Amino acid sequence: MALRADMNRKVTTHRLLEMKMRGEKISVLTAYDFSMARIIDQAGVDVILVGDSASNVMAGNVTTLPITLDQMIYHGSSVTKGVKRALVAVDLPFGTYQGNSKLALASAIRVMKETSADCIKIEGGEEIKESIERILSAGIPIIGHLGLTPQSINKFGTYTVRAREEAEAKKLLQDAHLLEDLGCFAIVLEKIPAKLATQVASELRIPIIGIGAGGGVDGQVLVAHDILGITNEFSPRFIRRYANLYEIMTNAVERYVEDVKSCDFPNEGEQY
Ligand code: KIV
Repeated sequence: MALRADMNRKVTTHRLLEMKMRGEKISVLTAYDFSMARIIDQAGVDVILVGDSASNVMAGNVTTLPITLDQMIYHGSSVTKGVKRALVAVDLPFGTYQGNSKLALASAIRVMKETSADCIKIEGGEEIKESIERILSAGIPIIGHLGLTPQSINKFGTYTVRAREEAEAKKLLQDAHLLEDLGCFAIVLEKIPAKLATQVASELRIPIIGIGAGGGVDGQVLVAHDILGITNEFSPRFIRRYANLYEIMTNAVERYVEDVKSCDFPNEGEQY
């Protein structure tokens, strides 16, 4: 039987560290709105990430770059209202923390004040060191994010696996140690070789959460719309689909349209 954290106690950064220490895997899913967050929280997910993937999933953008801080705050404050147990993390969006640590702190403070989230997540290593230090100095917990960092897609030019080459793997390992030393309480590793992710998880004390990074890490994060099969065009190998809601929802909507057109809806019991 898999180890399972107490389902009634609020998940905190400290409890995630304890989970790593006793070998309990950490489950993480995205949510962007109240209703979905409520379901995900009640189903027992440990961490809910209000990811900037909202830019793709909610707003239909091709990348995560266009989403604004105001929009992330809107999603974040909707999610926290639906959550009782999970730790809630909100992504700082592109352009709100890179290259300007004062701006980074101001962005993080707005997220914490206006969403009631528990922490923020930001992408990058050495190059955002000052922003990390300044945000942490205000007592705001940070999840780092290394490997494929979608906010840098224009630099990478492709969404393929990162850190296959020795130099990039070495930099990633150094960055992971740096994030831990600076005081980040967890790190997301996206789309990197499983062997490298396993090495990071075994060298670091803080929890390492993988997405497309294999099973040797301390937890897994996926986009809820992907595992539920609401999105059906995006299918990299690291996604496991647990439902086909695209089909189920399409079918339900088609039946509703049919019932309206045929005057089957509303019937006598469905009116006043
Ligand atoms: O924005 C997001 O959803 C993410 C996860 C996929 C890690 O950053």
